[in-house]
Amino acid sequence: MEGTNSELRVSRVYGFGGETSVPGDKSISHRSVMLAALAEGDSQIDGFLPSEDCLATLGAMQSLGVNIDILDETELGPVSLLVHGRGMEIALPSGDIDCGNSGTTMRLLSGILAGQDFTSRLTGDASLSQRPMNRVIKPLTGMGARIHAEGEGGSAPLLIRGGSLHGTTYELPVASAQVKSAILLAGLFAEGMTTVIQPVETRDHTERMLDLFQVETATDGKAISIIGGQKLQSCDFVVPGDISSAAFWLAAAAASPEARLKIHNVGLNPTRSGILDVLVGMGADISSVASSDGGGERIGDITVCGRGLSGIEISGGLVANIIDELPIIAVTAALADGTTVIRDAAELRVKETDRIAAVAKNLQAMGVDIEEFDDGMRICGGGSITWCCY
Ligand code: S3P
Repeated sequence: MEGTNSELRVSRVYGFGGETSVPGDKSISHRSVMLAALAEGDSQIDGFLPSEDCLATLGAMQSLGVNIDILDETELGPVSLLVHGRGMEIALPSGDIDCGNSGTTMRLLSGILAGQDFTSRLTGDASLSQRPMNRVIKPLTGMGARIHAEGEGGSAPLLIRGGSLHGTTYELPVASAQVKSAILLAGLFAEGMTTVIQPVETRDHTERMLDLFQVETATDGKAISIIGGQKLQSCDFVVPGDISSAAFWLAAAAASPEARLKIHNVGLNPTRSGILDVLVGMGADISSVASSDGGGERIGDITVCGRGLSGIEISGGLVANIIDELPIIAVTAALADGTTVIRDAAELRVKETDRIAAVAKNLQAMGVDIEEFDDGMRICGGGSITWCCY
């Protein structure tokens, strides 16, 4: 790969392999700072992902009066933190809280702020300011918070006047771990019990991490309950490698005959590891070995050996598990023999970009036969992917 800031040239490689590791998990990094901030005592977090989204969460918690020491950093930013928890007593921010491009920051933080006896204002960049926030506003106002969406159609900026929450039972209309987490976090500050019912299982990092911080939640099928007033106790942990980052390497190796790649210390949480099942379903040779259960999360090494792949049909409950991996799955499908159909994935249209339109546009530009649906796409594999220039 070469180029300048405005130009990126990518050259084809013929076979690759070796051993690598990936940066810390984004979802877990966000949650780690938020929960550590609410805990009593100091928590050390290693393997934190210094991406812009996670740094937005870090900055947000600092603006809520949380002291965070940077213990170690790379050129990208902090990777090891000591968070001095405030024991549920976060402070009134002096100005707006900027969530940048991060939906996870805005939605999860809305849950925490809904429980605070002060008014705060959450802002975001142009893309975040167009994303749907009614999905958190509705349940949180149902618990007693007052939230005004200043943007069109229930979008950010969000003005949140929190406090005096009561528990609720809320059935999620969309499968969203962000919304589930926002409600559970608000539930921590609510009187009585809060129950969230999911249409399908979504990533359960919040539940696992609450358990680590000694907060009890109860899961009964797709319903998760939390009793308000519980106190979080600090703890130290290591964020596992992000399986969503590993997915790009896994897909490239799986589709490259003769490649052999091992990725170390990847999060293998079953609510996130659907990408492995999809690639195996396409014919990939993949094995994973869980080596530890660090920080309440299963962690291990993944080995993939490249060979010819075939198309697959993806729909239903699996979609939430692989929502962030569907774009790279679509690219892999273009390299596989046969047709791949992805359905029930309309949520892809309301991410940072419309991921269905973006994938279709880019694969089409590379000569791939792809059809867009409202809730997915059909990709005809077996053709060649040709170079293109934008
Ligand atoms: C996330 C949940 C998913 C995912 C996002 C991170 C989380 O979003 O796409 O990248 O950390 O809870 P939704 O909850 O909107 O599905």
